Amino acid sequence: MVDHKVKDYSHLKGKIKGLSEKQLEAHFGLYKGYVNKYIEITKALETAEKAGNYSYTPYSALMRAKVVAWNGTFLHELYFENLTGSKTEPSSDFKSAVESSFGSWDKFVQDIKAAAASTPGWVLITWNPVEKRIDTYIVFEHHIGLPAGQEILLALDCWEHAFMIDYGTDKATYVNTFLDNVDWNIVGERFSSLK
Ligand SMILES: [Fe+2]
Repeated sequence: MVDHKVKDYSHLKGKIKGLSEKQLEAHFGLYKGYVNKYIEITKALETAEKAGNYSYTPYSALMRAKVVAWNGTFLHELYFENLTGSKTEPSSDFKSAVESSFGSWDKFVQDIKAAAASTPGWVLITWNPVEKRIDTYIVFEHHIGLPAGQEILLALDCWEHAFMIDYGTDKATYVNTFLDNVDWNIVGERFSSLK
């Protein structure tokens, strides 16, 4: 029985320089919608008709939707939790991993910006435990392009709903705002918890 609780991020209102309360409030509402859909889908799966073929059964349709709702839930939680507005510096551990993976911190930031321009969905900064490197991925919707076997260190929501109220179609300025408000302590904790 799934009962994922909607997390309250209202403490962020007024703290994120460059993101208005109206923008954040709208985004919290969309996040809540994903949580509710995730619960609705998992409940519906308990009794869904399974008989049929690959093209369609109520069960298969719900299974395809489940990952969208779950990732929509989880990625938004990562996003709001790595966007505290606290001015922090990256840990030396994380910074040196970035430098060995990208060549320099500046190249890492350039890569985040290029990735953001390349997706209508998400930019994810991950730890690849196989290659032992930090990497960047773009994800469409909430699930298309999600890399297998990687730990997410930073989530950047590039859906237009994340910035339209404040920035219209100016995604580049929104990305700069995001980077000014990332809590690198949270990213560093996620990174160090993997070791
Ligand atoms: Fe979003």
